Amino acid sequence: HSSGSESEHEEEPSSSEEEEEEQKQETEESSTSEVVNAAEKPEEGVRKAVVDQPPAGPGAPVAQKASNKPPCKPAVFIPVDRSPEIQEARLKLPILAEEQVIMEAINENPIVIICGETGSGKTTQVPQFLYEAGYASGNGHVKWAFRQSEGNVTDLQKCLCTGNLLKPLSSNGTIGITEPRRVAAVSMSQRVAKEMNLSHSVVSYQIRYEGNVTDETQIKFMTDGVLLKEIQKDFLLSKYKVIIIDEAHERSMYTDILIGLLSRIVPLRQKKGLPLKLIIMSATLRVEDFTDNNRLFSVKPPVIQVDSRQFPVTVHFNKKTPLDDYSGECFRKVCKIHRMLPSGGEDDKEDSVEEMRKFTKSRKRRKVTALPKIDLNNYSVVPVDEGDEDRDTDTDDDAAGSDIDLDLGDGDSEEDEKSDSSLPLYVLPLYSLLAPEKQAKVFRAPPPGTRLCVVATNVAETSLTIPGIKYVVDCGKVKKRFYDKITGVSSFRVTWISQASANQRAGRAGRTEPGHCYRLYSSAVFMDFEKFSAPEITKRPVEDLILQMKALNIEKVINFPFPTPPPTEALAAAEELLIALGALKEPPMTGRLKQQLAAKLSCPISPLGRIMATFPVAPRYAKMLALSRQHDCLPYTITIVSAMTVRELFEEFDRPAVSEEETAQLKRKRARFLQMQKIWAGQGPMQKLGDLMVMLGAVGACEYTGCTHKFCEENGLRYKAMLEIRRLRGQLTTAVNSVCTDAGLYVDPKMKPPTEAQVTYLRQIVLAGLGDHVARRIQAEELLDDKWKNAYKTALLEDPVFIHPSSVLFKELPEFVVYQEIVETTKLYMKGVSAVEPEWIPALLPPYCHFGKPLENPPPSYCPETGRVRCHRPSVFYRVSWQLPAVEVD
Ligand code: CDP
Ligand code: MG
Repeated sequence: HSSGSESEHEEEPSSSEEEEEEQKQETEESSTSEVVNAAEKPEEGVRKAVVDQPPAGPGAPVAQKASNKPPCKPAVFIPVDRSPEIQEARLKLPILAEEQVIMEAINENPIVIICGETGSGKTTQVPQFLYEAGYASGNGHVKWAFRQSEGNVTDLQKCLCTGNLLKPLSSNGTIGITEPRRVAAVSMSQRVAKEMNLSHSVVSYQIRYEGNVTDETQIKFMTDGVLLKEIQKDFLLSKYKVIIIDEAHERSMYTDILIGLLSRIVPLRQKKGLPLKLIIMSATLRVEDFTDNNRLFSVKPPVIQVDSRQFPVTVHFNKKTPLDDYSGECFRKVCKIHRMLPSGGEDDKEDSVEEMRKFTKSRKRRKVTALPKIDLNNYSVVPVDEGDEDRDTDTDDDAAGSDIDLDLGDGDSEEDEKSDSSLPLYVLPLYSLLAPEKQAKVFRAPPPGTRLCVVATNVAETSLTIPGIKYVVDCGKVKKRFYDKITGVSSFRVTWISQASANQRAGRAGRTEPGHCYRLYSSAVFMDFEKFSAPEITKRPVEDLILQMKALNIEKVINFPFPTPPPTEALAAAEELLIALGALKEPPMTGRLKQQLAAKLSCPISPLGRIMATFPVAPRYAKMLALSRQHDCLPYTITIVSAMTVRELFEEFDRPAVSEEETAQLKRKRARFLQMQKIWAGQGPMQKLGDLMVMLGAVGACEYTGCTHKFCEENGLRYKAMLEIRRLRGQLTTAVNSVCTDAGLYVDPKMKPPTEAQVTYLRQIVLAGLGDHVARRIQAEELLDDKWKNAYKTALLEDPVFIHPSSVLFKELPEFVVYQEIVETTKLYMKGVSAVEPEWIPALLPPYCHFGKPLENPPPSYCPETGRVRCHRPSVFYRVSWQLPAVEVD
C-alpha cells in the first residue's frame, strides 16, 4: 500500500473495507499486467525524444520512472470492459507505461502537471486512469466527503432522499476535462466512450449550448468557456472530483483564467474537506509560467514527463521563399507526393523507408528515373473552409531540418511499382466547425484501394492526432484573429506561424513510422519566425473576460493570479468600457487621482452586468440583448447581434474575376445585391437603422423563403453565414430564456418586419451597446483640408474615418452615427453603420458626456496650432453637450 493512496483514503469508513480489499487485489493484477505488457512491447526503430528535465526546485518533486518505484496499489478499481483491439492499441501508447507514476503523483499531490508529445495518449488515457482509480464513481473519498460536508444542503438532501448515504449521486464524482477547441471536446468524448465501451450518457461532452451530458455523466469533456460558466454558478465546482485542463500549452485565454481560478479553488476545497484534484496537461515542457509562478501555486506542482514515441521526421524546406498562392502550392506538392511517394501504413513501412532512401540518393545524383504519370481525374478535392478560429500553439518538438528541396519533376516516364499514384486520393477536410460525424471520418480507415489525404486547419496541429500520417505539407501559415489595440475591433489575418508550431506540424508525420515534412518556405524564413507565439490573453481586448471575472466577484482583477498577466492598459480599457456600459458600478469620484484610478480598477459588477455575463456574446452585444425586452425588440436584437457576430454575411463582389464571363456575372450580382440592399434597408425612418436594418432585412427575407441556397446565391448572401446565424439565433434565444424565465421566447425563423417605432427603439438599443463607437461628421466650418471632406471623427482615432461605400448610409452622411467596426483599406472605413439622433447621446450615454457648465478649456476637436485633429477621447461628445444645452437628463 503506497502512502499516496492511503492518505487519500485513510478516513474511509470501515464498513466496506472487505469489498475494497477484493477490488484492490483485482486492480493490482490487472494494472500491473498492463504495465508489464507495455514495457515488454519492443519498440524497434523508435527514437525517444530527448527532452530537458523540467525545472526542479526543492518543492518540485519530479516524478521518477515507474520502474524505480514499487508498484502502487490503487485503493479502488473500477473495471472497464475494453475490446481486445482497443486494449492492444492502448498498450502502444507511451503514457500507459507511466500510469503508476501519474496516479501516484495525483494521489499524493493536489496539483499535477503532465507533459507529453501530442499523440502520447494524454487526453484519451488520463481520464480512464482516473476512472479506474475510482475518481469518477461514488466510491472513494466522495462517500466520506458527504459525511463531512456542511454546506451543500441540497446535495445532502438528495442523498438522504435516495436513502443511501453510502451510494451518493454519481454526478458527484465527475471527472471534468476542458479543451480549448470544440472539435476536440466532441471528438475526444466519443473516442473515450468507445475505448471504455461506455455510453455517451456516461462519457459526455458539453460545448456552448450543445452537449449530451446526463445525470449519469462521469467523464465530461467540455470547452474551457463552459467550465468558466459553471464556476459562476458553483465556485467550488462541487460536482467534480478532478479537473483536467488539457492543451494548456495553447495558452488560450479561458484556459489561462481557469488555471488562475483553480489555483484558488483547490485549496478552498481542501479546507472544506472535499479535495479537488487539478491536472494540467501540456504538449510541451515549457510550463514555467505555471510552475515558477508563486502567485499561482504556493507549492511547485510536480511535472511528469511522458516519453514521446516519435519516429524521425525528415524536414524539407523550399529553396525559394514563397508564394502568395500558398494553397495552390500545397495542392501541387500534395499531387507530387501522391504520384511519387509510397503511402504510409504498418505493412509497407520498411519498403517506404527504403524507397525514400533510394529516392533521395537518386535525386542527389540528379537521376530521377522513375516518374510515373499522374491521372488528374483520379481524385476529388473537397474545399476546406478556413473561417474557423484556430489558434496557434506553443510547442517544443525538435524536428531537425535540412535544406533539401524535393523537386520531384513533372516529366513523363514509366510507372513506378512502389508508388501509389494509381490509387485515387481520398480527400477529407478537418476543421473546427465541421459537423462531428464528418470529423470522425478522418479516424476511420479510408475506403479500400484509396489513399487518405487530410486537408486540415490548426486543429490537427496538437488537438487531434490522426493515425498513420506519413507526409505533412506545411504552408507555414495560420489564420488568426487580430485585434486592433485602439478600436478593439478584430479581423482575421493570415500570418506566419511560430517555429514551435512548425515543429509541431512536422512531428505529425512521425506518429506511426518515419515520415517527411515539406515546408513551403525556406529555412531563412523559418529562422525569422517567432520562437513561440505569445499567450492569447496578452494579445486581445479582455472586456469579455473581465466581465466574466467580475461575475465571479473577483473585483480586483489586477491582483488575479494570471499565468501571464494581460497588459495593465488592456485591463484598464476593459474596465472603462464595462463601466460605460453600466456592467460595473461606477466608483465614487473622490480622493486623489491615484485612488480614483485604483478604485476604477476594482469596481464590483452591477445587476445589469450580471445579466450581461450570462449571454455568450461580447459585452457590447450583451448590453443590447439586456435592453431588448422593451417593446418586443428581443427577436430583432437577437437577429442583429447574431448577424454582427457571424462574419461576412454579404458576398464580396470586388474580388478579381477569373474570366470575362465571371466579371459579367459579378456585375449582375452586384446590381442585384444593391437593389436588394435598398429594399431591405426600407424607407424613411426604417433606413436610419442603416446597415443593421439591411442585415435584419436580409435574414428576414431569407428565412421567409425557407433559407435556401438559391435565395442566398441570387441575392449576394453567404449561405453558410446564414445557417450560422440561424444557429446562433437559436442559442441566444435559449440564453435569453434562461435569464428571464417568463420570456417564453422561441425563435420564429419567419420574423414579421419590425414596426417603425420598433426600429427607432432598435437604433437606441444599438447606440447604448456601441457607445464607444460613435462618430460625428466634421462640419463645414471645421474643415481644415480636403482630407476631412465627408469625414467623421471618432472618439479613439486621430485620423478621419469614412462611411464604407458598401453602406446604405454612404450618401446620407448623417451627423452622428454608430459603427460596428472600422476596417482599414485605402482609408479608414466604418462598416455596419446606423444613424443616431444627437439628443439620444446624453440620455443614453451619460458616461461619455460632460454635463453642466462648459469646461473652461474644452478639448477641441481639432488643434489650431498643428491643424490636426487631436485625439481627445470625449471630444465627440463634448460637442453634443455644447450644442444641446437644453437637453434634460434625469
Ligand atoms: O492527448 P494526446 O495528444 O497526448 O494523445 P491522444 O489525443 O490521447 O491520442 C492518443 C492516440 O489515440 C493517438 O495515437 C490517436 O491517433 C488515437 N486516437 C484515435 O485513434 N481516434 C480518436 N478519435 C482519437 C485518438
Ligand atoms: Mg491531447
